[in-house]
Amino acid sequence: MSEERYLTFALGKGRLASKTMELLEQIGITCEEMKDKSSRKLIFVNEELKLRFFLAKGPDVPTYVEYGAADIGVVGRDTVLEENRNVYEVLDLGFGKCRMCVCGPQEAEELLLHHERIRVASKYPNIAREYFYNKKHQTVDIIKLNGSVELGPLVELSDVIVDIVETGGTLRENGLDVLEEICPLSARMIVNPVSMQMETERIKDLIYRMRSHLSSS
Ligand code: PRP
Repeated sequence: MSEERYLTFALGKGRLASKTMELLEQIGITCEEMKDKSSRKLIFVNEELKLRFFLAKGPDVPTYVEYGAADIGVVGRDTVLEENRNVYEVLDLGFGKCRMCVCGPQEAEELLLHHERIRVASKYPNIAREYFYNKKHQTVDIIKLNGSVELGPLVELSDVIVDIVETGGTLRENGLDVLEEICPLSARMIVNPVSMQMETERIKDLIYRMRSHLSSS
């Protein structure tokens, strides 16, 4: 029998990883090692299926996949767009649904309408730049933040923000509104282009099984 190589998955830490493992379990792929919450291990293996899993910070997942350190990654579409790595996006996993939006106080709507040179705070400077410069042809100043982006307009750091809106609760509680929608988001499966060529059968079979399961559930 030929020696099969390990297929390696990089999963975005947290809810994304647990939802992915749930989904994989539903198509018969499990990783018992990963269920031991007291373990300090970083890499989890299913010897029988020759699979390896590791958890990484969301924005690092496309990096591991681009360099081939992981064959497959699961991460939000926000991260795929922001990181813009050389990876194939092969499947929408359907969970983690939310929207990337331009948000701010209602008064900021006028500034958007008249293409004013506004200040935009975001954890996603590349998505913000792509949207304002290439789609809207509006020159803006982009300010990179690392979280709690809603603070931007509240403390007059920026006129608007580009951020993820899920329930809309954070905006509501802070007197902000969705002013424009950029794109819908959800969890995506990404694949290293070389792995896709070398492991075509295994990866295609996995995508096929996941897709069939997702469309029947
Ligand atoms: C995200 C996002 C919004 C919030 C949206 O932040 O940046 O702030 O969730 O969710 P909602 O529409 O359901 O209120 P996260 O909790 O990831 O923290 P962060 O602000 O530190 O990025």
